[in-house]
Amino acid sequence: MNIAFGCDHAGYKLRDGIINFVESLGHRVIDYGTHSAASCDYTEIAGAVSGAVSSGEVQRGILMCGTGIGMSIAANKFRGVRAAVCWNREVAKLCAEHNNANILCLSARFSKPEDIQDMIEAWIKTPFSPEARHRQRVEKIGKLEEKMCKGRK
Ligand code: RB5
Repeated sequence: MNIAFGCDHAGYKLRDGIINFVESLGHRVIDYGTHSAASCDYTEIAGAVSGAVSSGEVQRGILMCGTGIGMSIAANKFRGVRAAVCWNREVAKLCAEHNNANILCLSARFSKPEDIQDMIEAWIKTPFSPEARHRQRVEKIGKLEEKMCKGRK
């Protein structure tokens, strides 16, 4: 699968390790930066990655900032994006299984590198549940989005 990756300066030190890890799982990574430790706005990176997911250019995205929160707030403004901030393997597994999350948001400052790898692996390898209740809920998220974004492109 094609997976877009992006982080701000907080995630800069961890970025290469994450990209290598995702590639080692057999996926293609499209890198949206940031490419230096200089301070930057997470909104720009979240916009680029979420735009790629929203348009279908990539299947999924991974975003990382200090907490993962700014990235997730920005990402969830995009049509069709379901971005989830995760903090352990089980939560990462559940956001794939129950919420069909297509963007994983990670914290560079509050998660350990080995836990980050665990979360990425669980999220990538866990399929969306076939159970009707989860499918219906995610469909309802799409309907909320349509209702709230009526008239917007
Ligand atoms: C940058 O210092 C920090 O605010 C950012 O990485 C992120 O945690 C915001 O949600």
